[in-house]
Amino acid sequence: MASSSGSRLFAGFLVVLFSCGLYANGCYLSIISFGDSIADTGNQKHLALISDDVIFICGPPYGQNFIGQSTGRCSNGRLIIDFLAESLGLPLIPPYFNGKGSSGVGRQGVNYAVVGATALDASFMEAKWSERSVINASIKIQLAWFKESVSSICGNASDCRNFIGRSLILMGEIGGNDYNYPLSVGQPIDEIEPIVPLVIDAIISTINELIVMGARTLVVPGNFPLGCLPRILTIYGSDNEEYDPITGCMTKFNKFAEYHNKMLQTKLDHIRERNPNVTLIYADYYNALMQIYRSPYEYGFTNDKILKACCGCGGPFNFNVSMQCGELCKTVCDEPDTYLSWDGIHLTEIAYKLIFKSLFQGPYTIPEFSPLCPASSQTEVGLSSYI
Ligand SMILES: *[C@@H]1O[C@H](CO)[C@@H](O)[C@H](O)[C@H]1NC(C)=O
Ligand SMILES: *[C@@H]1O[C@H](CO)[C@@H](O)[C@H](O)[C@H]1NC(C)=O
Ligand SMILES: *[C@@H]1O[C@H](CO)[C@@H](O)[C@H](O)[C@H]1NC(C)=O
Ligand SMILES: *[C@@H]1O[C@H](CO)[C@@H](O)[C@H](O)[C@H]1NC(C)=O
Repeated sequence: MASSSGSRLFAGFLVVLFSCGLYANGCYLSIISFGDSIADTGNQKHLALISDDVIFICGPPYGQNFIGQSTGRCSNGRLIIDFLAESLGLPLIPPYFNGKGSSGVGRQGVNYAVVGATALDASFMEAKWSERSVINASIKIQLAWFKESVSSICGNASDCRNFIGRSLILMGEIGGNDYNYPLSVGQPIDEIEPIVPLVIDAIISTINELIVMGARTLVVPGNFPLGCLPRILTIYGSDNEEYDPITGCMTKFNKFAEYHNKMLQTKLDHIRERNPNVTLIYADYYNALMQIYRSPYEYGFTNDKILKACCGCGGPFNFNVSMQCGELCKTVCDEPDTYLSWDGIHLTEIAYKLIFKSLFQGPYTIPEFSPLCPASSQTEVGLSSYI
């Protein structure tokens, strides 16, 4: 007995050393990501190649600062997930769809996020808002892709439970598009508000399913301050609207985002109560970005550009609904690093980098992310029964 537990301990110790060597900080084996354009590292691009009803959205000039190429990321360069992967010592997280079968699925991470994806089913969205086509890649469908592919990543059920438990699961951002679709056609916000509880429920039920599958650490982002987006400022701007005198953002839309975020956090508390073993991390995208709008100079930005898009073809916020950055408009500002907004909807690489730092190396996650990682989980990992 003594010798067998001794050798198990020894084996556990080896795993610690192995993890430290292989991964910069050894906290997580991989990142498993769900969401929309805030996290998509190439799925929408590849879906557009294989499906007639999907039109590639984030082609050049998107990606102009990403080692000089377009990957389908909706920014000029890297996203929050790229900075996160790098900080955990992991490679860039490959998209699930990569044009080469499912070989994008890897043991160090896989990304199911798709540009345009919603929390609610696409069919619901289309019926509700008589919308043009909403991409059929809701969070429920992304979870189904994960279930279909998980055994090819980690083997049998018990190995997969361990693998999922030792992965960092990034749940979004997701839900923003459930509001963006109706907002982009000018629906009044009062009519959009009633769907917030449905959006939250869709996110929460996906989290619960992942916990049942063995998830132990999940990062759940909230919504961004919608009222600061060049697109919203352009579509809804008017003398009758209330603007925050400090930031110039539209109050009503920011309150709406906060309403979503509060409800999400309340539901996360319920999950925490029921699952004391699970670390649910709320990522406060809203305040991480708001702090920059409140004090742009502290972060190297100036008031004349803070609410304008870098890539755009004119208008007070350099955003025009009928001529958006992409195929129709390829005009890019000289210094993207001096802008927060890349295209009026998505952020620049520098914005994502600042948000990443505030979240994962700063105070904008609840609980704080950085103390969760270095010491504690390496010991736990080493002594766990993973091997
Ligand atoms: C959406 O995808 C799901 C799963 O792949 C499929 O069952 C459903 O029929 C699709 N819906 C539409 C409208 O294409
Ligand atoms: C799962 O596969 C591993 C090898 O990777 C094996 O050691 C283990 O016994 C298998 N477990 C079950 C329940 O089949
Ligand atoms: C929680 O974790 C402990 C120690 O890792 C384990 O013994 C226990 O079974 C877990 N409980 C649940 C409900 O998963
Ligand atoms: C948007 O672009 C169209 C087409 O060039 C133009 O007619 C319209 O005035 C522009 N709108 C704004 C707000 O700049």
